[in-house]
Amino acid sequence: MEQYVIRGGNPLVGEVEIGGAKNAALAILTAAVMTDEPVLIDNLPDVSDINVLLEAISVIGATVERIDRHTVRINGSTIGSISVDYEFIKKIRASYYLLGALLGKYKKAEVPLPGGCNIGSRPIDQHLKGFRALGAKVDILHGAILASAENLTGNHIFLDMVSVGATINIMMAAAMAKGNTIIENAAREPHVVDVANFLNSMGANIKGAGTDVIRIRGVEALHGTSYSIVPDMIEAGTYMFAAAATKGDVLIKNVIPKHLEAMTAKLEEIGCDVEEFDDAVRVSATKRLGRTHVKTLPYPGFPTDMQPQISVALALANGTSIVTESIFENRFKYADELTRMGACVKVEGNTAIIDGVRGFTGARVSAPDLRAGAALVIAGLAAEGITIVDDIVYIQRGYEDFEGKLKGLGAEIEKVSSEKEIQKYKLQIV
Ligand code: EPZ
Repeated sequence: MEQYVIRGGNPLVGEVEIGGAKNAALAILTAAVMTDEPVLIDNLPDVSDINVLLEAISVIGATVERIDRHTVRINGSTIGSISVDYEFIKKIRASYYLLGALLGKYKKAEVPLPGGCNIGSRPIDQHLKGFRALGAKVDILHGAILASAENLTGNHIFLDMVSVGATINIMMAAAMAKGNTIIENAAREPHVVDVANFLNSMGANIKGAGTDVIRIRGVEALHGTSYSIVPDMIEAGTYMFAAAATKGDVLIKNVIPKHLEAMTAKLEEIGCDVEEFDDAVRVSATKRLGRTHVKTLPYPGFPTDMQPQISVALALANGTSIVTESIFENRFKYADELTRMGACVKVEGNTAIIDGVRGFTGARVSAPDLRAGAALVIAGLAAEGITIVDDIVYIQRGYEDFEGKLKGLGAEIEKVSSEKEIQKYKLQIV
């Protein structure tokens, strides 16, 4: 297993380029198989989740041609199976987007039911509700979802809760249903909009993405396209809060500032300066951060995927903050690790009460999940002394070249893969 070894204390200073949004790319790669014509996708993030999903797509028979680290050509005409292998769902839940894509195109799909994950049980009942509303027969047999339909017919679907995955999965199936579909209480995230824009570039007829009502007029077939993935607002937000927590000054490039407004508002509230440009934001923090309260909400509210990162910054702030996690039931697993670095965090149910401390001390910690792992790296960058982050495989799922980008901002961080290397690096930097 690989680790990060970090010597904290350097403010992050400089410029960092943001890549394509992992959570848009995962859905778009599955939607790409809905046509029998070639699809070229660029600005893909080179992260393990993307690489696993591309493997899942090629295993069902699609032709996947890697042009370079960030560009792929997909051709769905060679698909020979509508059944997705369990190993892929285990590795990456988002393989369940193949349900909507294959059901839309072939009117049948078989995908293993994804289990829970480190941040919660994450049921997919709303996805299945949507497929049934479109006329599909949906059964769960031997741990797999079998969905099939003579024809898919448009319908008026009201989601019980705002769900990114359900909105996207239903949108894909409805894109090739007969007639019109309305999805009410739809998720409004930028990556939902990106998937709708991608499908429309293939000839779909989707209106209203980005609002809570999406209208879809089904089409017979979709055609090939070339498409570039939207910048990753969560990768951008992670570097914004890393700048804040290390009292740095960072220009985060290749972003859409509008997508970052909830993060920008909170950073300004706690005393950072945030300057917006057309496709960049600059975050600087010269004085100790102030406290605030934050509650995670569906977009445009403060994103749940940024909850661990803001909590680390608030754990160093002057005063007591309250962080409420309203989306997932188990997203404070990093709190115990942060406490080992000197933070004062009390978790009660879906709320964390954070008494800011003057500073952290480095410790050996373990990444419990993707975003919490990134947050612990931020804590190590701000800490005095050496921090070792274990289980960084989680972080590599969603952050391309995390250590390289941080080094570019002046961080002392190395990726190592053995205790011997840890000792060697520690000797170099102490
Ligand atoms: C997507 O997950 C993202 N993953 C998550 O990012 C992100 O945290 C989440 O949206 C919220 O923004 C991908 O896009 C691959 P939801 P998703 O459906 O679609 C409940 C990351 O770090 N729910 O919006 O699974 C669910 O349990 C990951 O990049 C149901 O009850 O999230 C949750 O409490 C982590 N039934 C809430 O809704 C359903 O059928 C929101 O989940 C669907 C969801």
